[in-house]
Parts: sequence; C-alpha cells; structure tokens
Amino acid sequence: MATHDASTTPTAGAYAEAHARSLSDPDGFWLEAAQAIDWTTPPTSAVDDSDAPLYRWFPDGVMNTAYNCLDRHVAAGRGDAVALVHDSAMTGEVTEYTYAQLTEKVAAVAGALAAEGVGKGDRVLVYLPMIAEAPIAMLACARLGAVHSVVFGGFAPKELAARIDDAAPDVVLTCSGGIEPRRRVEYLPAVAEALEEAGHTVRTVLVHHRDGFQTALADVADRGGAAWKDWGEAVDAAEPAAPVDVKATDPLYVLYTSGTTGKPKGVVRDNGGHAVALRWTMENIYDVGPGEVMFTASDVGWVVGHSYIVYAPLLAGATTVLYEGKPVGTPDAGAFWRVISQHGVKSFFTAPTALRAIRRADPDGELKDQYDISCLKTLYAAGERLDPETQKWAEGLLQIPVVDHWWQTETGWAIAANPVGLELLPVKTGSASVPSPGYDLVVLDGMGEPVEAGVEGNIAVRLPMPPGTLQSLWGDDQRFIDSYLSAFEGHYATGDSGIVDDDGYVFVLGRTDDVINVSGHRLSTGVLEAALATHPAVAECCVIGVADDFKGQRPSGYVVLKSGVAAPDPGSQEETRLFDELTAAVRRGVGPVADFRDVAIVDALPKTRSGKILRKTMRQMADGEEYTVPSTIEDASVLEDLKSLLSPRG
Ligand code: COA
Ligand code: AMP
Repeated sequence: MATHDASTTPTAGAYAEAHARSLSDPDGFWLEAAQAIDWTTPPTSAVDDSDAPLYRWFPDGVMNTAYNCLDRHVAAGRGDAVALVHDSAMTGEVTEYTYAQLTEKVAAVAGALAAEGVGKGDRVLVYLPMIAEAPIAMLACARLGAVHSVVFGGFAPKELAARIDDAAPDVVLTCSGGIEPRRRVEYLPAVAEALEEAGHTVRTVLVHHRDGFQTALADVADRGGAAWKDWGEAVDAAEPAAPVDVKATDPLYVLYTSGTTGKPKGVVRDNGGHAVALRWTMENIYDVGPGEVMFTASDVGWVVGHSYIVYAPLLAGATTVLYEGKPVGTPDAGAFWRVISQHGVKSFFTAPTALRAIRRADPDGELKDQYDISCLKTLYAAGERLDPETQKWAEGLLQIPVVDHWWQTETGWAIAANPVGLELLPVKTGSASVPSPGYDLVVLDGMGEPVEAGVEGNIAVRLPMPPGTLQSLWGDDQRFIDSYLSAFEGHYATGDSGIVDDDGYVFVLGRTDDVINVSGHRLSTGVLEAALATHPAVAECCVIGVADDFKGQRPSGYVVLKSGVAAPDPGSQEETRLFDELTAAVRRGVGPVADFRDVAIVDALPKTRSGKILRKTMRQMADGEEYTVPSTIEDASVLEDLKSLLSPRG
C-alpha cells in the first residue's frame, strides 16, 4: 500500500481525539464549531432529538447563510479579497469577483427575486451552466431564506419537469444556454418544454442573456404559463435585498438525487447545521482558509458543487474557482494544471473519472510539466472509488497526497476522509481513509449485526448523523424514514457496502441497490429503464451498470421486444436503426448525461419466481465476478442463454 510519511505531522493524534470527542460529546464539539459562524441568535444547544429518528441541529440558532458567505467578510475588512474566479475554458474568459462585488451582485439578484414575490421558504429552481450567475443565484435565494433547487444542465426536460412538480418553485432562474465541447445546449426550449410538461405552474422565469445561442426570450415567452423576463432588466429595476434571518433548522436547499425508484429524492439541507459543518471541514479536512484558493472541478448541479464550489470556500473566506470546461479537450489534458497554476490553487478536488481521462490523454504528464503547480498541496477525489492504479499514477505525477474521500448527496460532506487540515494520516491506496468526526460508522450484516474488521457488509451510520447531513426528503418524512432509517434500526443506511480494516480505514466497495455511477454521475437504473420502455417496440427491459475502465460504470440495457415485433437481423440496417431509437429514447427521457450507448435485444430476462429481474447476477456475470444462481430463479435456461452476451468485455 502506498503511504505518505506522517511523521512530520504537527498534531499527531488530533484526528483520534476529535473523532472520539465528536461522538462522546457531540453538543460540546459542534457548539464549539458553531462559534466560527456569525449568528443573529447563537444556539444554546446542538442536537435536538425530540422528534427522533428525525434530528435537528442548533434548534434555537438564528442566522443567514449568504451573510456568512459574503457580508461578514466584507464587514471584517476583506471586501477586496477575491471570493470567486470564473474561469471558462469554453470562452477563454477569466472573471474575478471580490467579496464586495459578489455581495453586491447577490443582493441585486435577491432584490429581483423579492420583487417577484419570493420570500422565506419559497422555492426557486436554478437551471444554469457553470457561469457566475449560478452561485450568485444560489446565494441570492439563501439571502432571502428561499429554498433553491439546482438542476444539472445535462438532464432532459422530463427530469426538469419532475423536479418542478416536486419542489413547486415560484420562479425559475436560467439563461440562454450552456457550452459543451461539441455543441451549444439551448436551455430555453428545454425549460419551456419542462414547464409545459409539469403539473405545477411556475410564476416567473428570469433569463440571463448569454451570447451565441439561437433561442431568444421572445421565442418562448408565451410558453408554459409563466411570465418570462430578462434577468438584467429585473435586477436593474429592483432594490438590493438585505439578508433575512432564518432559523438554523430552516431549509437552505433541496437537491434531487437518484434513488432506486424512478422518482428522484429531494434531499433537504438546513441552514445552520450545513454552515457549521462545512466551515469546519474547510479547516480540518481541506486545510483551506482565508486568502487561500480551492478548485473543485465538479458542477454546481451536483452536491460536490453545492458544498465545495459555492458554500464551504465562501464560508471560510477563501477563494473558489468555478471552472467551465472539461478535464480533457478544452483544449487539452493540461486544462486542470493550467487552472491550478494560474489561480494559485492549494486544494484541488475532482472525480476519479476526470483523472482517468487526463491519464489516458497524457500518461506521462508532459502537459502538467508546462505549468508551475507548486502551489498545490493536496488532491482530493470523490464521486466514485478512486481506483488504485489512478491513485498511484496521480501520486507519482504530483508528489503530493492524493486523498480519496467518500460521500453522498445525502450527507453533503465527507463520511470518510483523510482529515488533512487536522492531521495528515497515512494514505492507504483503495481506501477513503477514516470516518469523519461526527460519523459513528458501523459495518452491519444483513441482520443488522456488526461484522468484524475486514469483513464486507452494509455501511451504516449510528444516529444522529452530524450537522450538515440531510434533514429529510422534501415534503416526505415517511419516505426519508423508509428509504434510509428503516433497514437497520437506529442507523442511517448509506446504500454502500464495504469494509473497515483493523486500523479503522474504510474501503467502499459498491452500492447495495440499483443506483449506478457513470463518469461520477449518479443515476438510477429504474429511471433509465422507464425511458427505454417508452419505445413502442419494448415489452420489458432492464439496465445494469457494467464496470468500465474509464467511466467507472456504463449503463447496459437488455430489451425484450413485444410479441409481433420481429427482432432485426444482427448487423442489419434495421438493427442499427432500432438501437439508435432505443438510445435516443433514453437521451430524450433522462438526458445526455446518462451516456447510454449499450443495448442488446434478448429473448427473455432472467427472473425469480416472484418476477424480480436478476440484475445483480447479470451485473456479476458482466463484470466477470463470481456469482451463484439464486435458487428462486424461474427458468435457469434464460440466464444460460445470456452467458455469452454478458461475458466481460475489456
Ligand atoms: N449540460 C448539457 N450536457 C451535458 C452536460 C451539461 N452540464 N454535462 C455533460 N453533458 C453531455 C455531454 O455533452 C455529452 O453529450 P454528447 O453525448 O452529446 O457528447 C454527454 O452528456 C456525456 O458527457 P460527459 O459525461 O461529460 O462524458 P464525456 O465522455 O464527454 O467526458 C469526462 C468524460 C470524464 C471528461 C466527464 O464525464 C467528466 O468530467 N466527469 C466528471 C464528472 C464530475 O465532476 N462529477 C462530480 C463528482 S465529484
Ligand atoms: P452522489 O450522491 O452523487 O455523491 O453519489 C454518492 C455515491 O457515490 C455513494 O453512495 C457511493 O456509492 C459513490 N461514491 C462517492 N464517493 C465515493 C468514494 N470516494 N469511494 C467509493 N464510492 C464513492
């Protein structure tokens, strides 16, 4: 195992002490952390268990998240420090915003939202690419105590509509479009289609104008029953808005993520617990403080973007880099190193798939050598397991600690990490390091009994979870309890399986449900199957996530055609046409982000006698893993027939 010498650690033992204290005295630990936040009314207690298994943090605290991200730094005399750097590899532009400038911009957009009648608790849907308006929109909502729901630009209108119906926003904040390497993505037709499909009626759509897109505001202005308005004009006409006091327990945002079923789960984050936890992680996990630069190469539509592009760096008074571009091809595999060098990045956070993309294009790091990246102290990876090969490659290339850390949309911050700021622990290749302070992590067997060190099981967290983790699912406490808190009483079930070794290091091995991970994007096979099933020739289908050297997993579909629909001859034009239509159905239903390309026509799907498709067995076969045919199988010959189709490909 690759290790880094931890003997120079200034505060050896700090992690063990912090973790132990966070569990034995959570109130003391988190009230102390809460002192790093400015409160209108400071909290007098930390965890509120009066409604267990639903927990609330800092029940009597009052504050504003946007104030803590912006105004407080200006008030402290740091108005001229750079808060946000927008670096677009797509347009070649770099724009810096100081804390004073960002505060002004956020107050102005908050004013425009207030003029549209948005207030505390109202929902605002944000559908924006990686431009400065995205964090500005999020912070403007936070300023008013409104609840934002950010939707990733790679989702199709149908997915956008599902989120509109669940969160019921009054206003949508969007722009002309996003820039992908091979195409321009027109946002306005997608928003219009989503509004028409949704049952809920949105009052106003504010559109930020971006040059270079075909659809103008006037082209969609009569669609979807909303008033479509120009963002700039709305801002100019409004008075800037001041931060509004909210309870620590009031919701800051809802962020939808894939679950096992087709209906996305709206993860609800509070204000106070979130601010306290994220602020704590900046110092203790990422080792970034005021005046230092963090670059998180994710998207604001994902939780990593929410936490470490927007909120955490600003809560800490640091500089955050918002990068519009890809790891490779914009223009080349040196793009991240260029950004790191140009903006003096200290902590860099990306997805393993992005590192694999760079490694594939520039294995010897020749492009990296063109830049001075001596400013970079630590590389953090998350979104999927950092495979040992890639971790070793990155360590060799950068000669700095390369830290895998494990988290989920639900938790909002790392469940397990190497707490670099607190104490750099030895790095174990293949492990996400140790449970973060606040997480009482256990590995349980199927009966809910703890397993021994080194034995694989379900990873769970003893309740209560620390501050900053999900409060509930939007409008559905029962679904929250059923989905996460019922499998193992008194625990949050992570949905991941793994091992904790004798040293307490966590090895996350994979999901225990039908959630898959494609290029660091979390997707539900149920949603992909529902989209595939919309094709008129499909009788039934299933989608599994097959191991992929580059993307982590790739979705692979198996389709049974309706009786009366003849299976096209292999290699024929009809077959190509059918495959194109099937992949297009998924692209239309879920979005390009699903990256759905593999589909096969089969005679039947293997099932249990009760009709459950044997997805896990199929995946194990496709991944070349050992598998046992369940005794409950309805017809073993169906699985036998699929053997050659499911044999592992490189
Ligand atoms: N808006 C619209 N479309 C988007 C999009 C967005 N925000 N993001 C991706 N897409 C589209 C792409 O244009 C592409 O469409 P195409 O089929 O028309 O070409 C499709 O979705 C797949 O794109 P992508 O996932 O980017 O695949 P890729 O092969 O082009 O690039 C990687 C591969 C590894 C470079 C890329 O997936 C990546 O950077 N992943 C990291 C993801 C990440 O940071 N996740 C956060 C976890 S911390
Ligand atoms: P998301 O909610 O999109 O962040 O996806 C969360 C899921 O991604 C987790 O439940 C894991 O399955 C996977 N994941 C994220 N980070 C890691 C990691 N460092 N190691 C292993 N799996 C990870």
